[in-house]
Amino acid sequence: MYEHVNFHQDNPEFIQNKFLITGGAGFIGSHLVDYLMEHGATEVRVVDNLSEGKKENIGHWLDDERFTFFEGNITDAVLMTEALQGVNYVSHQAALGSVPRSIRTPLATNEANVTGFLTVLDAARIAGVKRLVYASSSSVYGDHPQLPKVEQAIGNALSPYAVSKRVNELYADVFGRCYGMEFMGLRYFNIFGPRQKPDGPYAAVIPLFLASIMNDEPAYINGDGGQTRDFTFVENAVQANIRALSTPNSAAAGKVYNVAVGERMSVLEMYKVLCEFAGKGLNLVHREPRDGDIRDSLADISLAMTYLGYNPAVRMRDGLMRTLEWFRNV
Ligand SMILES: NC(=O)c1ccc[n+]([C@@H]2O[C@H](COP(=O)([O-])OP(=O)(O)OC[C@H]3O[C@@H](n4cnc5c(N)ncnc54)[C@H](O)[C@@H]3O)[C@@H](O)[C@H]2O)c1
Repeated sequence: MYEHVNFHQDNPEFIQNKFLITGGAGFIGSHLVDYLMEHGATEVRVVDNLSEGKKENIGHWLDDERFTFFEGNITDAVLMTEALQGVNYVSHQAALGSVPRSIRTPLATNEANVTGFLTVLDAARIAGVKRLVYASSSSVYGDHPQLPKVEQAIGNALSPYAVSKRVNELYADVFGRCYGMEFMGLRYFNIFGPRQKPDGPYAAVIPLFLASIMNDEPAYINGDGGQTRDFTFVENAVQANIRALSTPNSAAAGKVYNVAVGERMSVLEMYKVLCEFAGKGLNLVHREPRDGDIRDSLADISLAMTYLGYNPAVRMRDGLMRTLEWFRNV
């Protein structure tokens, strides 16, 4: 899937390294695994407890001698020490996603997202990892009214999930200062694409809509559907991760970056586009707005463009079409 793109062209030797992807059996993590493996990485390791991820997302690499899967928890310091031995670059994707889940079970979110993150950081420090890039979230912007969102202007967190991601940023900053390690945080804005799960109580809106369209069932929209999001196709998130991991620009380290397209679409409009692409009529039910949800979200991506050379190539409509095609074929 990624042979046709090269996001590490500024540092071709980058690929001749050992990588660890936490959460690599999940949606975004498995795409990062594909990119690294398809481009000839020396070694790729994954730690995932399969709480949300699926082995089939990485099933096509399990027999490759360059690939190792560690099934386990990122809070397990012994496992992380073993998995990180000899690793140069870490991409940290493992976490419990979902704002509503964190409101229902804040301790579980904290355990995976904060204790887990700190365990990975500390094991990376001991292993002498060169650079660690981690998944943060646009939820960090909380109630700050400014649009588009710029990295330094954050408001009050609106959920335990948002707190967990903000704490990640604070720990990464402090580890960078105390131990001279290189960290970059990526604040993802509504990533979507192939392999994103439509099932489970905390599924994201695009796979949920696609499943309901395919099955000719009603789609549920929280509130009036006028809420807007900077929906971002997963290939753009892969680009941001690989550019952050590989950039030779040392001034890029120690920062957090918005990862988005810099365009927004309302949830209702997105549903209509999917119906149009699928050749189906609208079949909608409105329900109560969700706790902890923000009304509008749009990113300023100029920081990532300047420091990482990030340039999101896949626009929203193209990404929706590619995702629909994938859903049709599974
Ligand atoms: N998808 C988005 O729109 C979005 C937006 C903002 C931030 N993020 C963040 O991006 C990262 C990847 O998200 P995703 O959408 O691919 O989600 P995902 O659930 O598909 O992937 C996360 C993976 O982490 C694993 N995991 C969870 N807790 C673990 C633990 N304690 N130990 C080991 N493995 C564990 C899960 O099994 C799963 O495979 C997460 O950190 C998420 O919070 C995602």
